[in-house]
Amino acid sequence: MLNQRARGISPSPTIAFDSRAKAMASDGIDVVNLSVGEPDFATPAGARAGGIAAIEGGWTKYTPSGGLHELRQAIAEKLERDNGLRYSPDEIVVSNGAKQALFNAFMVLLDPGDEVIMQSPYWVTYPEMVKLAGGVPVILRTDAGTGFALTPDMVESAITDRSKVLLLCNPSNPTGVVYSRRRLEDVVTVALRAGLVMIADEIYERLIYGTAQTVSVAALGSEVWERTVTVNGFSKAFAMTGWRLGYTAAPRPLAKAMAEVQSHSTSAPSTISQRAGLAALRSDQPCIEEMRRHFDQRRRFAMQRLAALPGMQLEVEPEGAFYVFPNVAALFGTTIRGRRIGSSDDLCMALLDLARVAIVPGTGFGSPDHVRISYAASLERLREGFDRMQAFLAECAPTPLRA
Ligand SMILES: Cc1ncc(COP(=O)(O)O)c(C=O)c1O
Repeated sequence: MLNQRARGISPSPTIAFDSRAKAMASDGIDVVNLSVGEPDFATPAGARAGGIAAIEGGWTKYTPSGGLHELRQAIAEKLERDNGLRYSPDEIVVSNGAKQALFNAFMVLLDPGDEVIMQSPYWVTYPEMVKLAGGVPVILRTDAGTGFALTPDMVESAITDRSKVLLLCNPSNPTGVVYSRRRLEDVVTVALRAGLVMIADEIYERLIYGTAQTVSVAALGSEVWERTVTVNGFSKAFAMTGWRLGYTAAPRPLAKAMAEVQSHSTSAPSTISQRAGLAALRSDQPCIEEMRRHFDQRRRFAMQRLAALPGMQLEVEPEGAFYVFPNVAALFGTTIRGRRIGSSDDLCMALLDLARVAIVPGTGFGSPDHVRISYAASLERLREGFDRMQAFLAECAPTPLRA
C-alpha cells in the first residue's frame, strides 16, 4: 500500500534509542538517558511568560504563513547583531522547528534527481529529508584525518551536473566540530564556483566553547549571501524544543517560495510559540550564556571521563553543540557480560540492556565506528552514566574463538 517515498525512509535511530530508554524508564527501570538532542533546561522565564501572555491576550489565530511580522523583524535584528547578516523581515520564514525550515528549503530547491552534497558523520535526518524531497544525498566521508570537516578537494571531486546544494551543519551534530573561517571559505568558494546553493544549518551556533567562533556562511560575502539559505531556531539555544520554532533567512524569491510551500502544509507555526519566541529574543539573552556555561562544564567533564573509558577514543575535541562522538571500533570483536560486540549498534544495545545507559550508535549518522553521547544532562546524571559505562567496559574481554 505504501508508496516508494514512504518505503525509502529509514527510521531515526536516535528516536528509536530514546523511545526504548523512555519505555524502560516508564517500567520503573533507572536508565541514564544520554541519547537525546535536547537541552535538559527549562525554557527561560521570559519565553514562558510570552507564551502565557499570548494565550491570555488572544494571540490564538492564524498568522501570515511566513510568521508574525514582529517576530520576523526581531529575527532579522538578531541575525544582524549576532551573525553580521542583513535580512529584511520578508526574507525570514518562521517554521515549526528548524526541521520544517530545512524541509521547506529542500522542497523549493530540488528537482527530482538533484544532488545534495553533505558530509558524514551527518545529522540523521538530512539524507532522509533530501530523499523525501526527491533529491539524492551525496555523502562525503570525513574522519579524524580531516577534523570531521569537508575539504575543498572533497567537494570539488563530488560535483556533477546534477549537483544543486551544499549542505553544511556548523557546529556539527553529531561531532561537535566547528568549522574555522578559513576552511568554511575554502569549501564555499568551490561550491560557489560550481553554482551550488548553500544550506547552512546553524542551529547550534550559540553553543560554542573555548576559542571556537562560528562564522555564518551567508556572512562570507554578498555573492555567498545571494545563494545561501540560513537555517536556525529556538530549540537548542533557548531550550524550546517542544515549542517547535525555527526559521530560514534567504533572498526574497526563495523566502517567498518557502512561505508558499509552508502555507500549503502547516500554514505557520503555533501563534503562541511565535509570541514566546519573540519574548525570548527580547528578554532572555543572559539565560543563553548561563546554559552555555553549564554545557561547557559538562563537555569538559565528559571529555575527561571518556579519556579513561577502555575502548572509546575521542579523536577530535568537540567545540560546539552538546555531543561527544568517540570511536569505539577497538571494542568490536570483544565480549562483555556475555554479549558479543560486533558493531556500535551491538555496543549501544548492550549498554542499554545491561548497564542501563542510553547512547546512540554512529550507524544512523553515517559513521558506524562511532557512538554519540549527549551531554545535555545534569552533571550528576552524566557522572552516573559514565560510572556505569566504565564498570561495564572494564569487563570487556576478547571473544573466544570457536574450537
Ligand atoms: C543539526 C540539527 N538541525 C536541525 C535540528 C532540528 O531542530 P528543531 O526542529 O527542533 O528546531 C536538529 C535537532 O536535533 C539538529 O540537531
